[in-house]
Amino acid sequence: MTTVLFIHGFPFDHSMWRHQLAALSRWRCIAPDLRGAGASVGHDSPDDYSMAAYATDLIRLLDDEQIDQVVVCGLSMGGYVAFELLRQVPQRVRAAILCNTKAAADTPEAKSGRDVMAAKAQNAGAGAIAEELVPKLLARVTRERQPDVVREVTGMITRQPVGGIVGALRALRERPDSTPLLGRIQIPVLVVAGEDDQITPAAGMRSMADAVPGARFVLIPEAGHLTPLEQPEAVTEAIREFL
Ligand code: MLT
Repeated sequence: MTTVLFIHGFPFDHSMWRHQLAALSRWRCIAPDLRGAGASVGHDSPDDYSMAAYATDLIRLLDDEQIDQVVVCGLSMGGYVAFELLRQVPQRVRAAILCNTKAAADTPEAKSGRDVMAAKAQNAGAGAIAEELVPKLLARVTRERQPDVVREVTGMITRQPVGGIVGALRALRERPDSTPLLGRIQIPVLVVAGEDDQITPAAGMRSMADAVPGARFVLIPEAGHLTPLEQPEAVTEAIREFL
């Protein structure tokens, strides 16, 4: 049976995939919390965090579960981790679903933004990060018409441990450029973009898909950066069709 490994974004946990996990019962789906997120504890120093460390944890999980190959499905930071898996263990990735993500590394401006956000998390807590990010994460139409999604995302971010947020910001800041990888990918790839994504705009995602040989591109209407929660049926359908 095909296993799908769902990798969440920042600053979220596995629950961001809850609709897909409930609907895709024909496949074995695993959705761990990355180190420092959700229920995963025990990594307090920012030095413990990098895309490579997240990927190493996932490889260990696959080893423990005796899973040889997976379809990876990563959103945003989860996509950066998927690129890391493709670098470290390409033979274990059967196909990849890249949602609301990008291949480029942080610009110098983005890196300083990470430092500012880490200081804010330390000084004001995860609630302040939720307040800053939610308007950027969700499409305008989601914010206007789906108050339950706004509440869910705010709650999910507010629950995240500050140490994990600060660590993830270090990992995001230092992540490598994955652009050189794109043209070398030889597995089936699905790219899922949100029409109103302010963080990883759809146009950039279309160019990313164009750079991967044979990749499919799906644009999700009325969605921002959190397509799986904003338009769950459309995202589940795109994944189901691809699988
Ligand atoms: C995410 O959703 O994982 C983040 O937006 C990634 C990022 O800030 O680069």
